[in-house]
Order: sequence, then C-alpha cells, then structure tokens
Amino acid sequence: MFAVISDIHSNFEALTTILADIEKRGIKTIYCLGDVIGYGPNPTECLDLIIKKTKWCVMGNHDYAVLYEPTNFNYAAEQASFWTRDVLEWSRKEENDESDRRWNFLGTLPMRQTLKTKLTAPEDTHTVSATELRTNTAIIDFVHASPKRPINEYIFPDDVYSNPTKIRVLFERVKHICFVGHMHLPGVFLDEPDFYLPEGLGDRYPIVDNEKAIINIGSVGQPRDADRRSSYVYVDGNEVHFVRLEYNFETTAKKIMSIKQLDNLHAERLREGR
Ligand SMILES: [Fe+2]
Repeated sequence: MFAVISDIHSNFEALTTILADIEKRGIKTIYCLGDVIGYGPNPTECLDLIIKKTKWCVMGNHDYAVLYEPTNFNYAAEQASFWTRDVLEWSRKEENDESDRRWNFLGTLPMRQTLKTKLTAPEDTHTVSATELRTNTAIIDFVHASPKRPINEYIFPDDVYSNPTKIRVLFERVKHICFVGHMHLPGVFLDEPDFYLPEGLGDRYPIVDNEKAIINIGSVGQPRDADRRSSYVYVDGNEVHFVRLEYNFETTAKKIMSIKQLDNLHAERLREGR
C-alpha cells in the first residue's frame, strides 16, 4: 500500500489531518506531487513534515516559484511566494541546519518519478470484475501537473470535450498510469477521452492492464471542487482509493488573515473549497 498526496500549500492543519489518516490505515509509504508551499501560513512546518514523512516528492510550480521565480502567477499568489521565501530565509537565523535542509530539499526536487510495481487485487474483490482480478505490473509516473509539461500544464476536465486532441497528445506520453495534482480537482482521465469524478467511480479506480489513466488526486491544502475537505489517494492492491477528510480549515484561514502579506482571498478559498 502507498499513499499519494499533493498541493499541501503550507496548510499544516490539512497536512497533519491526512497524515494521521494515512498512519491509521497502516500505510508506510507516501509519495508527494509537489506544491508543498505557497498560499498558506505554515511553509516551514509543512516542508519539515514532507521531508520527514514522504519517500520522495516532485517539483510543483509553487515550489519552483519560491526557489526560482513565480511565472504566470496572479498578484496574490506571487506575494505569497515572496513571503514564503522570506520565511524560509528568516528561519535561518534560529534554525540554520533546518533552513539548509529545506532549501536543499526544494533545490533537488525532480520533475518526475516513475515506479514499476506489481499490483495484486485485494482480498475483498466482490466489486471487481474477473478481468481486474489478476496481478498486473503497473508503470506509474508521478508528476505535479501533466505528463507533457510536468510543472505547469493545466489539464481541465472540460478538455475532454473542448480539446480532445490535447488529451490524446497527453496520453501519448503516458505509459500506463500517471498521477497528477496541480488542478486541485480529483478525478480520472481515460484516453477515450473522458473524465470521471471520484463519486462516479464509487471513490475507487482499479488499475488494470491495457487501460491508461491520468489520475488527479486533488489537493490536501486547497481543494477547488466546491468541497473544502482535504483530498488524497491511497493504492491498495490494484485499486486507487480517493479519500476526503474534514480538517480545521478555520484555524488555517485565521492564520492567513493574520499575516498581512497573505491575501485574505486565500483564506476564503479554504472556507469555500474553490
Ligand atoms: Fe497547487
């Protein structure tokens, strides 16, 4: 079993909530799809937890923005990046080693990770068809945004209707399964092309041979699908399970509102899940 998390965005309350849930399920391996920081009020705490708890993490556009420069950011997002950079620098005064470790972590994030693994259907297979029962070998890519442009490209659910060629071209880059974040909207793209919301799939997607999928795992720290609950996935056997969890968003929102460099808009988004 392993869990995949993404788009924490310096939201300590959401991150600790999902980490506790992952631990409760007995899952030992966690992969992260980036955007650990940006928008939210607790960048150092979130970086420290991700460094400690995840097996590896890939680079998100907000991690890139703090490390190098924000590109195509709106003013509020840009200001959050500059404030986050300042916080990482200020922490150097009291926590020199930790500060170095955080910068080194950001500076060595890869664009992509790939996992080749055997997946066996779990014991409880009454909802799984016979073709899905067999053990299969999955090749799983992990990127922040898209298989073509790993840091920055947005894959909109509407693209399956308005721009199907874009989806087909993306799938040419997918060997089998590709986990993505970035949109903060959980769901599964198939190469038909089509897009399925988790609830339309009973909150689980079986990984099978000969079916490619781009799986958006949603956002831990800033969901945007009108559901403010934190989102992540875990893989048990050959099944990807979508999880949503309530967390104390009001605490995070109040912290954001108390920091003058962070736009109150970022707090409102957490309350509304947008
Ligand atoms: Fe993000």
